[in-house]
Amino acid sequence: MYRNHYNGTLRKADVGTKVTLVGWVAQRRNLGSLLFLDLRDTTGIVQCVSANPDDLPDVRNEYVVQVEGAVQAKDVPNPNLPTGEVEVNIEKLTVINKAQTTPFIIADKTDALEETRLQYRYLDLRRPILQRNLRIRNKICHAAREYFEENNFLEVETPMLNLSSPEGAKEYLVPSRLHHGSFYALPQSPQVWKQMLMIAGVDRYYQIARCFRDEDLRADRQPEFTQIDLETSFLSQDEILTIMEGFLKKAFKEAADVDIQTPLRRIPYWTAMDTYGSDKPDTRFGLELHDVSVILKKGTFEGFGEKDYVKGIVVPGVAATTSRKNLDELNLEARKFSLKGVIALKYLNGALEGSFTKFLNEDILKELVAELGLKEGDLFLFASSASRRQIDNGLGALRTLYARKLGLIKPGTYDLLWVVDFPMFTPVEGEEGKYVAEHHPFTRPRDEDLDKLDTKPEDVLAYAYDIVINGYEAGGGTLRIYDHDTQWKIFKLLGLSDEDVSNKFGWFINAFNYGAPPHGGIAFGLDRLTMIMAGTENIRDVIAFPKNLQAVDPTSKAPREVSPDQLEILGLDLKEE
Ligand code: AMO
Repeated sequence: MYRNHYNGTLRKADVGTKVTLVGWVAQRRNLGSLLFLDLRDTTGIVQCVSANPDDLPDVRNEYVVQVEGAVQAKDVPNPNLPTGEVEVNIEKLTVINKAQTTPFIIADKTDALEETRLQYRYLDLRRPILQRNLRIRNKICHAAREYFEENNFLEVETPMLNLSSPEGAKEYLVPSRLHHGSFYALPQSPQVWKQMLMIAGVDRYYQIARCFRDEDLRADRQPEFTQIDLETSFLSQDEILTIMEGFLKKAFKEAADVDIQTPLRRIPYWTAMDTYGSDKPDTRFGLELHDVSVILKKGTFEGFGEKDYVKGIVVPGVAATTSRKNLDELNLEARKFSLKGVIALKYLNGALEGSFTKFLNEDILKELVAELGLKEGDLFLFASSASRRQIDNGLGALRTLYARKLGLIKPGTYDLLWVVDFPMFTPVEGEEGKYVAEHHPFTRPRDEDLDKLDTKPEDVLAYAYDIVINGYEAGGGTLRIYDHDTQWKIFKLLGLSDEDVSNKFGWFINAFNYGAPPHGGIAFGLDRLTMIMAGTENIRDVIAFPKNLQAVDPTSKAPREVSPDQLEILGLDLKEE
């Protein structure tokens, strides 16, 4: 028997118990007459102590050892460790395996480069904080399985080797050995299959599904990620959201011990954009956007175009402490967010200050102060643009930047909301009459907007919803089109030719000719949910073996070249670079 207790579980109640423990030596301190070993296993660390160090074998950091001894109360408890009230008096110490000196010290606090940590991920994962993150992830999966089973969802696996789709720029392709020149595509999501399952009469489906997208990586994006993927039949949008709220409530409670109040609030897409400049607003703080187009255009400034939007944010209490240099920096930031720049007005000593005031008479200034509800010390930052998306996105990003700089976000708080009524299409900038699907082409337009499909597609709203948590899009879904004709029409509106539709989607939309039920679903980003509950902004912290920002696996160094023989078997020839 290697052990009879786990290290991290020992408490005061265990004092007097004889224990056999195993684990890795996390730290060793030899004070001559006393030896202290911190022994780590998956549950945590416990201190072990010996008053006869000379009788024990020599051990170093990361050796795998077995300790036998009795649990005793510590003279001075360590409040930083859950096991901090006890220690184990070493009676026998056995070395099970030795370890070389590790490339970095294995502890929660580390200054090792992330690339080094990822290269030796098996060592990095020994750090208690990463073990904790894996556990949170596991608890979310467990909550999902339990909740969706209870609610009559059926777990079904869907294929990994798929047909490439026409808008498949982000797809990973897999060459076929048996059909040279032909390729499978890895799934960006199980979307088409889960709809097929509804047509197949499955009624309620779920899957913890791997997805693959070859897109530019960011702190919250991986090329290979996991969705908790769901689809249901014969339910309204409201019914679906209510079921999903039940899952979120359970997952937050079980994985993060946080009580979520349901029902969650629901705000329409355009309200989110107008108020927060984002379709995934962080609502843990205010700094809402104000449209001052009408007021400021009454002034003598000639730089505003007739169709320009002039919008801004009020940052409370920082006018006096915001320097010229701060404003220059802010202008640089604003340019990064595609704005031409921001103009600042300070409300100090009961009056607005700033060079822009020369364009505004007393009445306009008064109206502006009233409209914004300015208080002493407030700073008003505004910008203009002919593009509503540009100004909203730019100010939305500045809003978050300021909230962070000013420490307006309280750690450990969670704000969840649904953003609903997304537009069906996004116009392609600079290409009149061209559209892309805002969610995906299977999304159902709202019944009341169906007649606008022919006249004003950009005004058509969809039965589409995202779950937004602390500024992250943690999941998204839609009701689906369930009749062949509407589906065909949407493909055409998206610019797909008849040939494209029948070649690439024919197999899919034909299924709708045989009695498709009304259906809809959602996919939660498991990695993002875990990030939020673990309190990290780095998606790589919640994935056991993530890719780096160059989409390389730093542990195995995939992707790498393959042998000419392998290429030959697949019928592939590489072009000289
Ligand atoms: P969507 O593309 O919005 O919808 O994805 C759903 C959720 O998956 C997560 N996500 C990602 N997480 C990490 N890395 C990525 N590269 C990544 N891409 C997406 C996000 C996102 O909200 N089939 C539809 C869902 C549906 O309509 O039912 C879909 O995939 O949290």
